[in-house]
Amino acid sequence: MKDDTQPDWSEVKNIMNPFERIASRYHGLPDVDLTQGKSIAYSRSTTTRIMELIDANSQGNVHGGAIMRMVDEAAAIVAIKHSQRPFVVTARVDRFDFLAPAFIGDVVSVHCEMHYVGRTSMEVGVEVTAEDLITREVRKIASSNVIYVALDESRKPTSVPPLVPANTTEAETIERARKRRVRRQKLDEEARLEAKEGQ
Ligand SMILES: CC(C)(COP(=O)(O)OP(=O)(O)OC[C@H]1O[C@@H](n2cnc3c(N)ncnc32)[C@H](O)[C@@H]1OP(=O)(O)O)[C@@H](O)C(=O)NCCC(=O)NCCS
Repeated sequence: MKDDTQPDWSEVKNIMNPFERIASRYHGLPDVDLTQGKSIAYSRSTTTRIMELIDANSQGNVHGGAIMRMVDEAAAIVAIKHSQRPFVVTARVDRFDFLAPAFIGDVVSVHCEMHYVGRTSMEVGVEVTAEDLITREVRKIASSNVIYVALDESRKPTSVPPLVPANTTEAETIERARKRRVRRQKLDEEARLEAKEGQ
């Protein structure tokens, strides 16, 4: 006989399992209107965090890997906002330039915006700054371009809304990124041919 004073443990186990919770939260996603373009401003996002001991490298500065992780997490927010898809994967870090060190106690801010949207892929431009909270000096410490691909529920690449410029500045940004994509594809093709010839 069912004891009503006891919880249903199978149910409790499911609630406590984070993977079950994620899967059930995103089960049956709403359709995305692919005719509805989004501007760069629509998904622009900044993530900020104070650097702590856990972020240090052996020299006592901020570890480059800590910055890279912040960049990947922050840029993914932009890709998720634009695509309206919870599942986006990092396909490529097109470039990552470390320009100056960051120090423990600095506030690191990762400024991200969408620069180009293909059918399923999205290039997010990233600028990273570090602020000394006492002197209020803000330094640009890194920049990057990260490419994400949106996935559907069966983990296949899925179409995302187009990126529609809201003004001439946005149009110029998108055009520069489009040229980068063409150059990248050309280099990829050359690398493929070289690898084939080397076989
Ligand atoms: C990214 C991934 C989904 C692409 O899958 P795929 O079968 O190659 O997909 P497709 O060939 O259909 O390409 C889909 C899009 O991704 C782009 N793409 C794929 N690989 C890419 C790369 N290395 N660099 C840039 N763009 C890439 C394609 O150009 C295409 O863009 P478009 O739709 O805008 O024209 C797949 O390679 C993957 O799952 N990689 C692992 C991702 C991962 O685990 N990341 C780390 C943790 S999040």
